[in-house]
Amino acid sequence: MSWLQITLVSAPQDVSRVSRVLSKNGALAVTLRDGAPKPRLEPLPDINSLWRQTEVTGMFVGDADEGTLMARLRAAMAPDPLPPSRVEYVENRNWEREWMSRFAPMRFGERLWICPSWSPVLAAGAVCVLLDPGLAFGTGSHPSTGLCLEYLEAAKLEGKKILDYGCGSGILAIAGLKLGAASAWGVDTDAQALVTSRENAEKNEVADIFTALAPEELPTVQADILVANILANPLVELSPHLATLVRPEGELVLAGVLSSQTDMVSEAYGEWFEMDPPFNRGEWARLTGRRK
Ligand SMILES: C[S@@+](CC[C@H](N)C(=O)[O-])C[C@H]1O[C@@H](n2cnc3c(N)ncnc32)[C@H](O)[C@@H]1O
Repeated sequence: MSWLQITLVSAPQDVSRVSRVLSKNGALAVTLRDGAPKPRLEPLPDINSLWRQTEVTGMFVGDADEGTLMARLRAAMAPDPLPPSRVEYVENRNWEREWMSRFAPMRFGERLWICPSWSPVLAAGAVCVLLDPGLAFGTGSHPSTGLCLEYLEAAKLEGKKILDYGCGSGILAIAGLKLGAASAWGVDTDAQALVTSRENAEKNEVADIFTALAPEELPTVQADILVANILANPLVELSPHLATLVRPEGELVLAGVLSSQTDMVSEAYGEWFEMDPPFNRGEWARLTGRRK
């Protein structure tokens, strides 16, 4: 069996209407994807849409007549024109297997692996963090997460207390714990991230030394290493607060910062930390420093 897939590239204000038109005309499923070439990473306060353009895709049974269907969609959108469209025929596949095959173990540094639970790395010396793609950010596939994981892999973590601020899936805290840290806090504004982080800590058998908290629940801690992979503007805003959470001589690791934003973020933290030159990889950068 094959499927007829019609994608309409819509402006933010048209997405609901286009989705409805596809559903009413027989789409069995409608999915939304970012359709802009560059994602909007830090929207301004008056902009409430993350995507400048959305690809709205309807899946129809493969024997639907393409010409008739397009004419019906055009009529349903009138008097507005049909948004730019793309029509594809998709063969039926084993979607679950296909999805799983997209996630393979990833290595960071010499010995740290982030592995889906169906594909652990058991090699001698490998430190394997089991993490399945889920509802919170942080599978290791984003370069800024990778920059933090590489830092942790190379750091001396034995006996250290890690604070993972903006923990998402808990990936950084859990990696730090499996690499030898004594304990870790994970902090996130997103309640789902806290739930996911706790579940991931259990799956990795470090739940007894991991605490996930909302920012307002975090006690006054003095971390040995604070790692925060958020975005440049929130990092700048958080700088006075994060500075209070690191012990003197403690380490700071910041990511989620574009290479073009490193000066701004380094300057914000320079009051409390001796900042190192940025480490750039493509358009992303990692900033590190030591608490004065
Ligand atoms: C880019 S994700 C990073 C997730 C994970 N630490 C990683 O490295 O892949 C950023 C996370 O920070 C959280 N976040 C954003 N602003 C925050 C804030 N002001 N305080 C705490 N967490 C925040 C988001 O909810 C999100 O889970």
